[in-house]
Amino acid sequence: MQTKNIGLRNIEVADTKISAVDGINGKLIYRGYDILDLVKKSTFEETACMLLNDDLPSKTVLSEFNDKLIASRKVPEGLEKNLKNLPKTANPMDVLQSLVAILAAYENEKLDDRPSNYTRAIDLISKLPIIVACWDRIRNGKEIVQPSKDLSHAANFLYMLTGNIPDNEFARILDICLILHAEHSFNASTFAAREVASTRAHMHAAVSAGIGALSGELHGGANFQVMKMLLDIRTEENVEPWIKEKLAHDKKIMGMGHAIYKTFDPRAEVLRELSRRLSEKTGEPWYKITKKVEDVTAEEMKKVKGSDIFPNVDLYSASAYYMLKIPMDLNTPIFAISRVAGWTAHIIEEKFAEAAPKPMLYRPKAVYVGKYCGPSGCEYVPLEKRQQ
Ligand SMILES: CC(C)(COP(=O)(O)OP(=O)(O)OC[C@H]1O[C@@H](n2cnc3c(N)ncnc32)[C@H](O)[C@@H]1OP(=O)(O)O)[C@@H](O)C(=O)NCCC(=O)NCCS
Repeated sequence: MQTKNIGLRNIEVADTKISAVDGINGKLIYRGYDILDLVKKSTFEETACMLLNDDLPSKTVLSEFNDKLIASRKVPEGLEKNLKNLPKTANPMDVLQSLVAILAAYENEKLDDRPSNYTRAIDLISKLPIIVACWDRIRNGKEIVQPSKDLSHAANFLYMLTGNIPDNEFARILDICLILHAEHSFNASTFAAREVASTRAHMHAAVSAGIGALSGELHGGANFQVMKMLLDIRTEENVEPWIKEKLAHDKKIMGMGHAIYKTFDPRAEVLRELSRRLSEKTGEPWYKITKKVEDVTAEEMKKVKGSDIFPNVDLYSASAYYMLKIPMDLNTPIFAISRVAGWTAHIIEEKFAEAAPKPMLYRPKAVYVGKYCGPSGCEYVPLEKRQQ
């Protein structure tokens, strides 16, 4: 008899050449390259280009990629009208998800070949930050800032958000955050995107499904919850009682724990250092408070459950974004701005994998545990005769 696997943990459902996550040794590899090396030597643009291709790009491939990315830095007029018609209280992840779905209307999705999907992927990578920045301006009653063709991807996002050319160090810190969040194998949102692509739905449908999956607090939504937690804790002294109280009530500590990493998440290691640098530069207390959250949670989990727990990618990214003066509810959209590189690479792999085993329509099985009234089913009772 087959055993159930709730949550599909450790089930291998496809081959991928895009990334490898080693949860035991705390390693994350994109297309063969260690992210710890990429954050030192690469940029988000180069990393995204590599994810969509097979290897580090040549000068020509990267320059064509950059040209297309910059050429796509605009919001179709109709889309701007859509944004302006939305209630100002709309959640930015909902806005992003619906706007990405609407972007399909501006595309000829019938061309579902590899080159069209590659171009579409670059367009989406370019447009997601623009949608997020425009939405933030619109909901705050401010004029949209037109994109710059001279700034990097990260710097242009900060510029469109604030109207000011960002400090170089801030822009590079955001660039590193984007590299770190770009790809993570079959996480929930990537699996959602691939699952939709497996039905032969188009790229926009698959990416908007990915955004929906990312919005939940057990996935990308955790970084927003982390910042809410830090603001609630406020001081280093409050960390210990706060964490103890939550754990005593069986509550999860956001930003801690991971389904795959059973050691330090390598991304958290880099983000911890970025948060430390930003705290030093801005004089804000968030690094020290976050570090204490990490330490106290680890100690308490060891005492209570006898198990180890480590910070994940969301713990230190929350305070890093806060110190970059990014509104808290844009934490998860920033995750999406970056992860769209991984989603689109996976959608292309799902649609055009050349080697066996080729992907096929995902269709897991569920065990029916509902009412059973015999092989011919329950007797249908007319509405007026049912118990009221
Ligand atoms: C990500 C997450 C869903 C993984 O869950 P998981 O695969 O069940 O993790 P584990 O199997 O290692 O959990 C082992 C135990 O630790 C507990 N645990 C895991 N993460 C925890 C956390 N952040 N706070 C408190 N307890 C936690 C689990 O409830 C489980 O307890 P149990 O054995 O009594 O059932 C979980 O760690 C979590 O909810 N973290 C907080 C949300 C978050 O930061 N998400 C972003 C992930 S990148």
